[in-house]
Amino acid sequence: MDTMQEAVENEEDYRGQLADVEIRWMIRADTDAVLEIDEMSFVECWSEADLVTTCRRNNTIGMVAEHEDRVVGFIIYELHRGKLNIVRTAVHPDFSSMGVGLAMVQRLINNKLHPKRRDKIEAFVHETNVTAQVFFRALGFASEAIRGDGNGDDEYLFCYRLDGFHEWQGRI
Ligand SMILES: CC(C)(COP(=O)(O)OP(=O)(O)OC[C@H]1O[C@@H](n2cnc3c(N)ncnc32)[C@H](O)[C@@H]1OP(=O)(O)O)[C@@H](O)C(=O)NCCC(=O)NCCS
Repeated sequence: MDTMQEAVENEEDYRGQLADVEIRWMIRADTDAVLEIDEMSFVECWSEADLVTTCRRNNTIGMVAEHEDRVVGFIIYELHRGKLNIVRTAVHPDFSSMGVGLAMVQRLINNKLHPKRRDKIEAFVHETNVTAQVFFRALGFASEAIRGDGNGDDEYLFCYRLDGFHEWQGRI
């Protein structure tokens, strides 16, 4: 497999990818593992109440990546009429840059999008989170807008579109 984009489109292994990663629905028993990964991944980490409240919303779905019976990453997303919104995703630092994040987003791209129904995925990324920006770009996302008041706490809107078209919207 030559490029990550090809891997995403064909749902095939990508060089460097951790073998044997299973993506499955998040269940209550995953709470501790997910919160542990969250705490290691974000400055403003989630409490158990944040996680439970978010995942209880009708349109919100959580998935985990499991390797050898260990939860090594998670992704939480919202389903909307025309789009899917990634609320939060993280990979355990011990398993970073092994294709786990790719595998989770790849699953959404390949299984949840349809040209006539839900044809794009959005994610907001903090302006200082360069790793996540590089990550989303590598998966075919493009930055389309910036949200915030310009005081160092802005977020870029990254979007993956099945039709590929995007236009810079400026500040939203
Ligand atoms: C962003 C994140 C989910 C990526 O997960 P991951 O499993 O490490 O990423 P992958 O191994 O699937 O990487 C896919 C591509 O993203 C890019 N990438 C990932 N981590 C990177 C890093 N540390 N530096 C530069 N590029 C990186 C690379 O292009 C990589 O492809 P390559 O391995 O061929 O170079 C993970 O770094 C993370 O949990 N970060 C902290 C939480 C966070 O920022 N979440 C996103 C909030 S919106």
